[in-house]
Amino acid sequence: MASDSYSRPVRILITGANGQVGRELVSQAGNDGFFEIVALGRKQLDITDADAIGRVLDERQPDYVVNCAAFNRADAAERQSEHCFRLNAEAVGLLGKACASRGIPLLHLSTDYVFDGHYASGYSENDAVHPLGVYGASKWQGEELLRRVHPRHIILRVSWVFSGGGHNFLIRSLEQARQETELVAVDDRRGCPTASTDVARVLIAILKQLASGAGAWGTYHYCGAEVTTRYAFCEAIIATASQYEQLRVERLVPVSSKDFHTEAERPATSVLKCRKLLSTFGIRQRPWRNELVAVLRHLYERF
Ligand SMILES: NC(=O)c1ccc[n+]([C@@H]2O[C@H](COP(=O)([O-])OP(=O)(O)OC[C@H]3O[C@@H](n4cnc5c(N)ncnc54)[C@H](OP(=O)(O)O)[C@@H]3O)[C@@H](O)[C@H]2O)c1
Repeated sequence: MASDSYSRPVRILITGANGQVGRELVSQAGNDGFFEIVALGRKQLDITDADAIGRVLDERQPDYVVNCAAFNRADAAERQSEHCFRLNAEAVGLLGKACASRGIPLLHLSTDYVFDGHYASGYSENDAVHPLGVYGASKWQGEELLRRVHPRHIILRVSWVFSGGGHNFLIRSLEQARQETELVAVDDRRGCPTASTDVARVLIAILKQLASGAGAWGTYHYCGAEVTTRYAFCEAIIATASQYEQLRVERLVPVSSKDFHTEAERPATSVLKCRKLLSTFGIRQRPWRNELVAVLRHLYERF
């Protein structure tokens, strides 16, 4: 099926195509006749290389670009600040400029870590940002550069992304639960886990509406439904995974963030309010618990 406004499938160029969100977007959009996908991992397109960006856009002529590339490890970012800013900020500006000069809308992902987490009730798109670490600051700078150079953008802030592969809390928790009898998890930081499958679903829904003429450019929030803690998220991971394999872990111990040292400070409550996405695009939050069950089922069925 082609889109309403196009007589052919809508061509989407995806950067960072081998990451958690990139992979899932390639897979879901690639199975949807509405789209034709150009999937580029870091080797095919390094988004810090302005010449390469221009060349690829001219060769591939996408209708939309979705940037899934990022430096995503908050603790490592404290040590690799220069690299982090180059990728999460400068490169987003380069991509934004290149897309703007060719009239290509750009969809970009950002994070709850742009906030300091002091609003217990959660954050809407207009709330003031105050990143606590290098990663959040670099992502915020990337957002600002994109706003400055390219009006036809969507910035989708998401939180606590998990999937069945790559570096994320789900995979780390599973690995530890296989090796240790006791795990600790922070129980005083609140947020909303979001499956990469769910982020891809939301991006696809936005892309379809943009392709049908919705010019609703701007910044949006999305996260899985139900506020939780890292402790309760870990508990759900262990409970679900235990249905498929015998884990070594016997005890999960709640700890305060004060007693759980990390290099990067993290927001205490990084709950994203998602009303704007619902009122603009009609996209509802899905419960992360259902997504977690589906992600783990898929993970174990592969073996
Ligand atoms: N993960 C989370 O918990 C989380 C939370 C909130 C927001 N987000 C945002 O969501 C987006 C997607 O995150 P994710 O979890 O899918 O990240 P991810 O799994 O780390 O994927 C990022 C991808 O970017 C690629 N990349 C690195 N440097 C690149 C470069 N110079 N040029 C092109 N590609 C490059 C990486 O490739 P290599 O592996 O080869 O380096 C990797 O495949 C990011 O914008 C992130 O900030 C993530």
